[in-house]
Amino acid sequence: MTHETVRVELGAGSEKDRSYSVLVGDGLIADMAGLAGPLLRKPVVPVVTDENVARLYRGAVDAALQAAGKDARWLVLPPGEATKDWAHLAKVSDFFLTEGVERGDHVIALGGGVIGDLTGFAAAILKRGCGFIQIPTSLLAQVDSSVGGKTAINTPAGKNLVGAFHQPALVLADIGALATLPMRELRAGYAEVVKYGLIDDPEFFEWCETNGPALLAGDADLRRHAVTCSVAAKARVVAADERELSGTRALLNLGHTFGHALEAETGYSDRLLHGEAVALGMVLAARYSVRSGHMDADDADRIAAHFAACGMMAELSDLGLSCSGRRLADHMLHDKKMDAGTLPFVLMRGIGAAFLDRAVDIDDIAAFMGEQLA
Ligand code: NAD
Ligand code: GLY
Repeated sequence: MTHETVRVELGAGSEKDRSYSVLVGDGLIADMAGLAGPLLRKPVVPVVTDENVARLYRGAVDAALQAAGKDARWLVLPPGEATKDWAHLAKVSDFFLTEGVERGDHVIALGGGVIGDLTGFAAAILKRGCGFIQIPTSLLAQVDSSVGGKTAINTPAGKNLVGAFHQPALVLADIGALATLPMRELRAGYAEVVKYGLIDDPEFFEWCETNGPALLAGDADLRRHAVTCSVAAKARVVAADERELSGTRALLNLGHTFGHALEAETGYSDRLLHGEAVALGMVLAARYSVRSGHMDADDADRIAAHFAACGMMAELSDLGLSCSGRRLADHMLHDKKMDAGTLPFVLMRGIGAAFLDRAVDIDDIAAFMGEQLA
């Protein structure tokens, strides 16, 4: 099988080298034992997944490991965001302990961002840190959550509030797995693809405008190109600012502060998926950038038009909320990115020119959100 390889360079050559490869291609699950090589050093391999993914890919993983003389040990969890909680963190940790996982071993996260974040966090704290391999099966996980080492669970106080930076040792992004992903999930993941163009790559945004609809309709070459470019973009950002200290990695939060308010208002429910919230959030960030005099209105219209052309919600009014702008702004104040009383916003000077604004007035945001709701 051919595949592209993107390196995430983190401390290469030093004692703390945490660099790793992200492989992007078709058929990687079938070839996983060979690709993981010595990372799978024992005959038994613990794999965490969810019920949907197990139904579709458990057989392929079993066969791939058996062909290499290994046995998968499975923990199959319920699908959905609710699984990223304390109870399932305990379950995954106990599973690893029962399977005798040691620090030098590598466990496998097979699934979307929920399984990746949960399993990665359990790996981060197991015996103060064991290895893990990400096999992301949703588009969102392939282009975003499996790369970069953010792991976390949700608590009653909010999303992703307890977690750790813990990099995987290898990521296998099998484009073939996207064939079974429901269209709504595919579109939600696509929002994160578009994000990389909006942050600093106007040519990639143009590529999305040209190819987004065909990619969503199933073109495998376009999917592979989109995932490879997205991973390469994320790898550059993570290499420059692994722990989100300099402001570079914070640009990956484009659309997330606005989107977070919408997710909170809709109760983190199926009414609005994370990627759908990010798409709406990026349009809101663009429109707020226009209102603040940073960006041309034509650029904001272009972003909204692209999401609409892909069959996605493109305006806040599409969501049909009946709350006030103030209420949405209040949700933002509970964002984990709050820093000493200020909330940094990612805004744009144009397509491919995102920047961090730490001086946004939350009352102005409340007024803006009110206008957008109308
Ligand atoms: P998810 O893991 O819930 O997967 C979405 C749905 O698709 C699930 O029902 C899953 O069972 C199903 N699925 C996955 N792969 C499939 C396939 N190949 N075929 C059929 N069905 C499949 O959600 P997600 O959108 O992948 O990830 C969202 C999570 O990622 C959130 O918890 C979010 O906080 C997290 N996230 C983390 C980061 C990070 O940097 N760590 C970044 C972005 C998002
Ligand atoms: N998804 C944002 C980040 O990884 O920083």
